[in-house]
Amino acid sequence: MRPRYHYAPASNWLSDPNGLVHHDGEWHLFYQYNPQGEDWGHMSWGHAVSRDLAHWEELPVALRDDARHMIFSGSAVIDVANTAGFGANAMVALYTGAMTGEPPRQVQCIAASTDAGRTFAAYPGNPVLDLGLADFRDPNVFWHDASQRWIMVVALSADNSALIYGSANLKDWDRLSAISGAGAPGEVWECPLLIELPVAGGGTRWLFKVDVLQGGPGSGAIYLTGSFDGESFQPDGEGWKVADWGADFYAAIAWHEPRDAQGRPLWIGWMGNHAYQGRLPAKGWRGAMSLPRRIGLRKTAAGHVLCQEVVAEAAADLPELREYSGAVPIASHARMEGEDWRIVLEDGNGRAIDLMRQGGVLRARRMDESNPFLDAIRDVPLASHAPVELWLDAGSIEVMADDGAVSLTLQHCFSGETIDCRVEV
Ligand code: FRU
Repeated sequence: MRPRYHYAPASNWLSDPNGLVHHDGEWHLFYQYNPQGEDWGHMSWGHAVSRDLAHWEELPVALRDDARHMIFSGSAVIDVANTAGFGANAMVALYTGAMTGEPPRQVQCIAASTDAGRTFAAYPGNPVLDLGLADFRDPNVFWHDASQRWIMVVALSADNSALIYGSANLKDWDRLSAISGAGAPGEVWECPLLIELPVAGGGTRWLFKVDVLQGGPGSGAIYLTGSFDGESFQPDGEGWKVADWGADFYAAIAWHEPRDAQGRPLWIGWMGNHAYQGRLPAKGWRGAMSLPRRIGLRKTAAGHVLCQEVVAEAAADLPELREYSGAVPIASHARMEGEDWRIVLEDGNGRAIDLMRQGGVLRARRMDESNPFLDAIRDVPLASHAPVELWLDAGSIEVMADDGAVSLTLQHCFSGETIDCRVEV
């Protein structure tokens, strides 16, 4: 069953969001895509656009792999001032070329589009950045107004660190500094993001988010807050925190612009996990995006915490669950008030999600008799009495607590239009 209000391609494998950019009223969502099948491979950039963040139109593949290289993750910018020479307002994609020859090498490349992202021409001078390394990927680029240049953050995946580069023209890049993984949980850094976020109540801090492929807490998405002066990122010294406690929120990046009235940008993540995604049952397509979420920071006893809020437009027509017993629609939203409760969702075929709030802890348990590799249990301490919100869809559940400071995203394989629901208080 296809997701009702989450983006999934009509067919084939989808993973990381790439090239998030807003241009001429369109939200562009590029993503890691295999045009040839439901397994990871032939990585290319799939493409979808939306004008309202609720309905997505799938477009032809934007950047295709070839005999020399796959098109790994990256970002896109609108080059308003024509710094790169592809034309004013050209859309420039910055991606990792994963060279298929021996020895394997990952290099940064660019491609430009002057027809609103429908077609791209690779820059003949590619690669624009080559350190001769096998693990060097996922460039995320934004315009930094204060230093009047482009800034790129990119992962040295095998080294658990990231590099920051600066450029005047998207083609020539100078190394500025590094972000160290010292003290960070997990290993193999992927999909870094550096972005300035508003702090509720006033001011801003910078967020550095990275995903760890193995051994990370939660989904692997971890972050630091700090400052960025156009050269280097200085952490606040509050330690690493977890951006999502589920198993299935990975590789999130942001539309750096536009922002809402509070200065919050949007981000979106892949609801997947490399540890088992390829073993999920084949359905004709494999993989979906999370809902787009507003992101900002809040100062709490734990320091600056990332707060996520599902963007209202994305779930506008969704039925609200008020009766929690018997068959409820698989696509629905619920708001659980109170301190002690338990909600169990079951499909009668040995699959269940059991969410419990007790003693200030949110416990999430996923069970699946047909796919035991999906079994997972998570305990997340809650810091407030705020209600817990659930967004249920075919294929996934997103849970937000503590006014967005706790996020927990899980895939599921429930069958049927409805799901059996029971609440215990
Ligand atoms: C993260 C990732 C990236 C890489 C891409 C390849 O999911 O491993 O590091 O660019 O996927 O598909």
